[in-house]
Amino acid sequence: MTTSKKRALTGLRATGNLHLGNYLGALRPALELSKTYDGIYFVADLHALTNNRDPAALASQTLDQVATWLALGLDVEKHILFRQSDVTTVTELMWYLSCVTGLGLLEKAHAYKDASAQGNEVNHGVFAYPVLMAADILLYEPDLVPVGKDQKQHVEMARDMAGSLNAIYGDLLKLPQPIINEQVMIIPGLDGRKMSKSYNNEIPLFCEEAILRKKVMSIKTDSTPLEEPKILKGTLVGDLYALFGTGQQYEDLSSRLQSGGLGWGHAKEELFVVINEHLRETRARYMELRRDEEALKATLRMGAEKARTIANATLHRVRYALGFR
Ligand code: TRP
Repeated sequence: MTTSKKRALTGLRATGNLHLGNYLGALRPALELSKTYDGIYFVADLHALTNNRDPAALASQTLDQVATWLALGLDVEKHILFRQSDVTTVTELMWYLSCVTGLGLLEKAHAYKDASAQGNEVNHGVFAYPVLMAADILLYEPDLVPVGKDQKQHVEMARDMAGSLNAIYGDLLKLPQPIINEQVMIIPGLDGRKMSKSYNNEIPLFCEEAILRKKVMSIKTDSTPLEEPKILKGTLVGDLYALFGTGQQYEDLSSRLQSGGLGWGHAKEELFVVINEHLRETRARYMELRRDEEALKATLRMGAEKARTIANATLHRVRYALGFR
């Protein structure tokens, strides 16, 4: 990481099975950036604690995510992959940021507002979530933070917090840019709403073929009779097909549906095939990597060491500026 390349950083909460929405919206675009940037990737397991109280699940989901990044081809020699909780000094920077962050700013956070509106538990972790996220970002001084649309506000808040600290102590922290993947911002789930674990409408990224098929076949469609012409464009099946099939395949399926005689069941069968083909190789690699937990943990140790070096340099500077001399 001593190259002169620009730096991109992204974290992903350690939650249950990663799904196609995570893959298309977060994992793949973040990996794409590793071609031109120095990438810093981390499993946000501290953030996961706001609602994950199952230690065994947290530990196992962390390794799931590591195996996923590796299976998708992340080069951990060239880039950094680590676990958020391995660099606990992030919570120290979080405190410094807390002391310059107004409650008003945090009250505007969508995640907090949604949680309170839905009557969910709002613990201090939920409220302070954006401060920890700002610390995650600012500690590593990235140029870019590739995120989904839902996280854009958090990156903007990180900029605000860096600005507040800088206004008092001088030019201390670098302001990051969020970059949003406009093309696949929101991936629809089985019921047409945004694919999300909380809606229970997700298609898992790596699961048994039979389960993948069953999920795809359960996608909501209308009840146009088999013989009648159907329009692919604008349907859930069509939207997903466009993400996995080639342009040619899409046109082809579209015209067969339009001429009638092809049911939505058939179309979903074809959708399953393109998704399955797309994932087959990486899934096999994932299954193999996931079995070797010692190797995954070794990968995390290597990542933590590299991450700590960067984090320590930032904190050293910040502590001095704050008056801890
Ligand atoms: N909040 C992000 C999510 O819910 C995860 C995250 C934590 C993150 N820290 C980050 C993303 C820093 C980008 C940068 O998925």
